[in-house]
Amino acid sequence: FMDITYEEDREANRRLANELLEGKRQSFDLIKRNRRKDGTLMWVSIHVSLIPGTQSNDRLFMSIVDDITERKRAEEALSRSERQFRALFEEAAVGIALCDSAGRPFESNRKLEQMLGYSAHELRGMPFTAFTDPEDAPADWSLFTDLLSGKRDHYHIEKRYRRKDGALLWGDLTVYIVRDDRGQPMFSIGMVQDITDRKRAEQALQEAQAELAHVARVTTLGEMAASIAHELNQPLAAIVADANASLNWLTKPHPDLDGVREALTAIVQDGHRAADVIQRTRQLATKTDPQKVRLQVNDVIEDIVALIGTELRGREVSLRLDLAPELLPVLGDRVQLQQVLINLVMNGMEAMAAVGDRRRELLIRSQRDAGQVLVVVQDSGTGIDPDKMHRMFDAFFTTKPSGMGMGLSISRSIIEAHGGRLWASPNAGPGATFEFSLPTDSKGEA
Ligand SMILES: Nc1ncnc2c1ncn2[C@@H]1O[C@H](COP(=O)(O)OP(=O)(O)O)[C@@H](O)[C@H]1O
Ligand SMILES: [Mg+2]
Repeated sequence: FMDITYEEDREANRRLANELLEGKRQSFDLIKRNRRKDGTLMWVSIHVSLIPGTQSNDRLFMSIVDDITERKRAEEALSRSERQFRALFEEAAVGIALCDSAGRPFESNRKLEQMLGYSAHELRGMPFTAFTDPEDAPADWSLFTDLLSGKRDHYHIEKRYRRKDGALLWGDLTVYIVRDDRGQPMFSIGMVQDITDRKRAEQALQEAQAELAHVARVTTLGEMAASIAHELNQPLAAIVADANASLNWLTKPHPDLDGVREALTAIVQDGHRAADVIQRTRQLATKTDPQKVRLQVNDVIEDIVALIGTELRGREVSLRLDLAPELLPVLGDRVQLQQVLINLVMNGMEAMAAVGDRRRELLIRSQRDAGQVLVVVQDSGTGIDPDKMHRMFDAFFTTKPSGMGMGLSISRSIIEAHGGRLWASPNAGPGATFEFSLPTDSKGEA
């Protein structure tokens, strides 16, 4: 039988057979390769025992041979596949973890360990919420329980991780659930990409944009200073007039106390009006970080209407307001949205400055539009050249002698940072229409 045993396996076979002959063992089992007559190899599993000899017969080897070539081939294929997936798992450029139903990673790859600063061993003992930023942990956990309960079969989120050293890491995470034949969850696979650099760049960009928006706001305020001063002078003049009238009445032997009361009420109102203008102006001028709150677009429109009254009269522009009642609130930064409106309104008035032969009319309209609020600013000015249509929104593009060309570019980036869009179109008649949409804040709904 040695002749048909594959050369490499002969030594082991010989050693076991000798041990059997020497009585060191009763039998042996061996997995080895045999060579067929045609030269090909086959895997066999043999069980060999020794049948003692008698006087007339020699001792005999009794060999039970099982052809396990197929099994060996399947095992090899499986281990090759296992090695392939293991290499893929270990060398992947994304962090990967397999988690049990308690969210504990029972397998994790090198990349994930690098990203989080924990060893595989440390990760095994903690649920993923333990290395998630506390602010993002509840949302992640709730999605994970949706996976377990079968409400969804995967999810994808951007979340913050906490590394072992306490540092913050932004990750783009996709999680899948793997179920057995009966549909029971076996484990989840989470894949994380480190997007910290991208998030930092986004944040820096946002800060730079807010900075620029502030500079532009202050510049616009400078341009509006004269009309804002006038806006203030009006209530002040009324206050002085009412106070003088009251003083006069009080010198009379029978003072008109009702008249005095009325004048004082008007003085209080005008005082509030003046304070209001100052407060709005200050809001626009001070530098604050953008703050998104639930607000009504109509209120923002009214904010700026309060500031532009004099500007409108000075330019002989009539303003028409068409505000939809019962609009859903949006999530926005009040000052930035005021800025967008002021930019559009000032542009509209400037476009009408050269128009002498027709009424100068500015329309501001708000309306509902499928999950969004739409704001329209329409003028009857010079209109837009089709070839300038897109360049208008570029930074520093201006057709005005003293223009900065930043108004529309800043307005667009503000609206886009709010998840909306800003665009322009020519009117059927003279003039241009600028519109922006903002998504309504559905989360706040009961
Ligand atoms: N309502 C409008 N009608 C016609 N053209 C407009 C209107 N608004 C803006 N534009 C054009 O777009 C250009 C850029 O506007 P903007 O970014 O606000 O900068 P600026 O007002 O400083 O020129 C303007 O110079 C003008 O040519
Ligand atoms: Mg402008």
